[in-house]
Amino acid sequence: MSLEKASGAGTDPAADRASESSLAVVIMAAGKGTRLKSKRPKVLHEIGGKPLVAHVIAAAAGVVSPGDIYVVVGHEAERVRKAVAATGVRFVEQTEQRGTGHAIQCARQAIADYANILVLSGDAPLIRTETLGELRRFHQAEKAAMTILTAVPEDPTGYGRVLHTASGEPDVEAIVEQKALTAEQQGMNEINSGIYAFQTAPLVAHIDKLRANNAHAEFYLTDMAGLLRAAGERVVATRVANADEVLGANTIAELVALDATLRAGKAKQLMAAGVTIYRPETCVIDTGVEVAADTVIEPFVQLLGTTRIGADCLIRSYTVIENCRIGDEVQVNQNCVLADSVIADGARIGPFARARPGSEIGAGVHIGNFVETKKTRLGKGAKANHFAYLGDSEIGAGTNIGAGTIICNYDGVHKHQTRIGEGVFVGSNSTLVAPLRVEDGAYIGAASCITRDVPADALAVGRGRQVTKEGWAAARRKRIAESDQKSGGRRA
Ligand code: UD1
Ligand code: MG
Repeated sequence: MSLEKASGAGTDPAADRASESSLAVVIMAAGKGTRLKSKRPKVLHEIGGKPLVAHVIAAAAGVVSPGDIYVVVGHEAERVRKAVAATGVRFVEQTEQRGTGHAIQCARQAIADYANILVLSGDAPLIRTETLGELRRFHQAEKAAMTILTAVPEDPTGYGRVLHTASGEPDVEAIVEQKALTAEQQGMNEINSGIYAFQTAPLVAHIDKLRANNAHAEFYLTDMAGLLRAAGERVVATRVANADEVLGANTIAELVALDATLRAGKAKQLMAAGVTIYRPETCVIDTGVEVAADTVIEPFVQLLGTTRIGADCLIRSYTVIENCRIGDEVQVNQNCVLADSVIADGARIGPFARARPGSEIGAGVHIGNFVETKKTRLGKGAKANHFAYLGDSEIGAGTNIGAGTIICNYDGVHKHQTRIGEGVFVGSNSTLVAPLRVEDGAYIGAASCITRDVPADALAVGRGRQVTKEGWAAARRKRIAESDQKSGGRRA
């Protein structure tokens, strides 16, 4: 439930907005991100497997409902809209990117009816819902026109700095951008996070006073601090305890540093919940991943996307699992690549196995080394222990797939299905040409090429008969030795 609803606001959106506590969130996400030197718009660069702006939206969605979140889009607007449309947020266009102040000017209509707004930066993804809630409470308690979220990081270089009034904290005189710092201001280490709370009325009343008289000829939202103060309004700052939470990603180096921070936090969270992660700094675990207690993750494992792993599993080194659902007591050995698949309790996978999308590996199934599955369901206790391709197929419970079995699912034009029943034995090095049905309890001789359906409990053998010629090899050796002697051993 959003805090907005929790604060007792009604269900009529128009009335909500008119109420004193009504709150919108504006996320500035229109910039190009020139310093990233990338074709991709900055806010779509990913950390923790998710675009920067998606992290910011997720944090904001804990404070207000998605319909009260306005994302300012501009550079590659369509791409940004598409990436986050499913969250239900609204969009504001900033056709020309003329600075953060201009971004908020563009949102003027959208925010007019709300009493207060929180402004977030689309490139500061580690902000937490709790901190936004605290910012809002502080802002309202201080009855400020503008409240700036600040931090004191190890290295403040590049950030705007907060200049307090003579009366000191929390009152703020102005925000000074890095490039405008005077020699004696260089030492100021309290940074502007780019995250603010505003009372909407004074913001809208004074925002047209912004001037683009700075290094970048842009309209800086940061100048609102000085403008509001000059207009007799109250401007204050509140600090976050952990500066990491508000750092921005303006360069690739900063982006990967935020990714590392986020993933370290994720690993810590999983460990606190009973998951053992050896050498967590070597593992890549996306924020959307869930792992149950008593599962052990070895070094250099990647768990990506929406992967969910049950309890008492062992995930061994160099395995990559993306968007999979894995049950309890599953062992995934080294170097497996599993994607968009379901693996039931007690299965044993790999080493060197690959489950491609649509694989459903049943309970207790063994998938061994160099086995590839795709759109294939293996019933309880089935085994494919070595070297096989199993595509577009259904394999019944307890069936054994011999080493080197290939399902020929593709005729060069279409894909076809293969259905293998329960308790079937497929001999090694068999080729199963789809479409094909092999009924329960059937037995396929090794090295068969099976092109026709096999009835239940039958034996099918599809290979040339073996011919054995007694003494043939010895006779051949003798023949060769005699001919060599005749030619005087003058063989090339
Ligand atoms: C900004 C602040 C700086 C602060 C820092 C914190 C200004 C002038 N400076 O600097 O004081 O320390 O954030 O991270 O605001 N954007 C738009 N439209 C625009 C320009 C930017 O939507 O016309 C968006 C960007 O996409 C980005 C956010 O606003 O998500 C911040 O812009 P950015 O260029 O990253 O500002 P900083 O230089 O980091
Ligand atoms: Mg920035």
